[in-house]
Amino acid sequence: MGWFEERGGLAGGVAVVTGGAGGLGRAIVTDLAANRVRPAVLDLDPVAVAELRKFSAERDLDAVVHHGDARDPEVLAALFDAADARWGRLDILVNVVGGTFRAPFTDTRPKGWDALLRTNLTHVLHACHLAVPRMRAGGRGGSIINITTIEAHRAAPGFAVYSAAKAAVEQFARTLAVEVAPDGIRVNNIAPDFVPTPNLERIGTGDNAMTDPEGVKVAIPMGRAGNLTDISNCAVFLASGLSSYLTGTTLHPDGGTRASAGWFNWPEEGWANHAPLRVLRAGDGTE
Ligand SMILES: NC(=O)c1ccc[n+]([C@@H]2O[C@H](COP(=O)([O-])OP(=O)(O)OC[C@H]3O[C@@H](n4cnc5c(N)ncnc54)[C@H](O)[C@@H]3O)[C@@H](O)[C@H]2O)c1
Repeated sequence: MGWFEERGGLAGGVAVVTGGAGGLGRAIVTDLAANRVRPAVLDLDPVAVAELRKFSAERDLDAVVHHGDARDPEVLAALFDAADARWGRLDILVNVVGGTFRAPFTDTRPKGWDALLRTNLTHVLHACHLAVPRMRAGGRGGSIINITTIEAHRAAPGFAVYSAAKAAVEQFARTLAVEVAPDGIRVNNIAPDFVPTPNLERIGTGDNAMTDPEGVKVAIPMGRAGNLTDISNCAVFLASGLSSYLTGTTLHPDGGTRASAGWFNWPEEGWANHAPLRVLRAGDGTE
């Protein structure tokens, strides 16, 4: 056994992953499985579910893959029951499900707020409520990981309720972490910034500057978008014994955007916390 396997202690564990068949969730499931964690996945996308089932069968992975909506508490409970029946243990929960739409707050309505809270907050509460008693009963502790966002740590114009719901998950995680710490159960968040996924393409990023190599250098200090593995590496770390004394906190795999907090690396002017006049006046003939 290598150093990572020994210290990580992941092999043989069981992980419930909501939204684990596509986007960031699929990357997390793949990397946990590569470390011999047995995944129980719930996902809304039937195509992604079929692909994950095929992938699992081809590689002879011991996995449970359910098609369904994590926002439905009964559907969520059925996944935990299936994991109980198959393996009789639970070590890891990764709450990946989340999503949003872009609109100024004053253009939104209570129906939309409710949908955003259900998609980003309520199922996390249900999943944690299902996971903690199982982890306690196992007596081996556990690791709960929520995928939040950089928008939980800054203003997010056009995404007010999403940002608030994700910030609520972060604060919930802090309190839950303290309540379950005596049981050896750890609760942490991963707050990515820009990681191209099919979901992100649907939301759109304005004028597509973020998909332009020059544009991304302005906004992200490390000068590139996030890769799926930038996030799944963090999930493997938080699931593993390598993070055994880490709880109630957040990892920020964002290439430095949280740290730069409003500073941009303009191609000619360099770092500034405002747009250069050259950019503002481009095309109006004043320069
Ligand atoms: N991609 C990014 O740049 C980014 C940045 C910050 C935060 N996040 C967060 O990361 C998480 C995953 O984002 P993603 O970009 O991979 O999105 P995604 O839509 O691709 O989501 C991953 C998977 O979740 C599934 N899913 C969505 N709603 C579901 C539901 N109600 N029940 C079951 N499955 C459901 C989707 O089918 C998909 O397979 C979200 O919580 C998102 O808010 C993403």
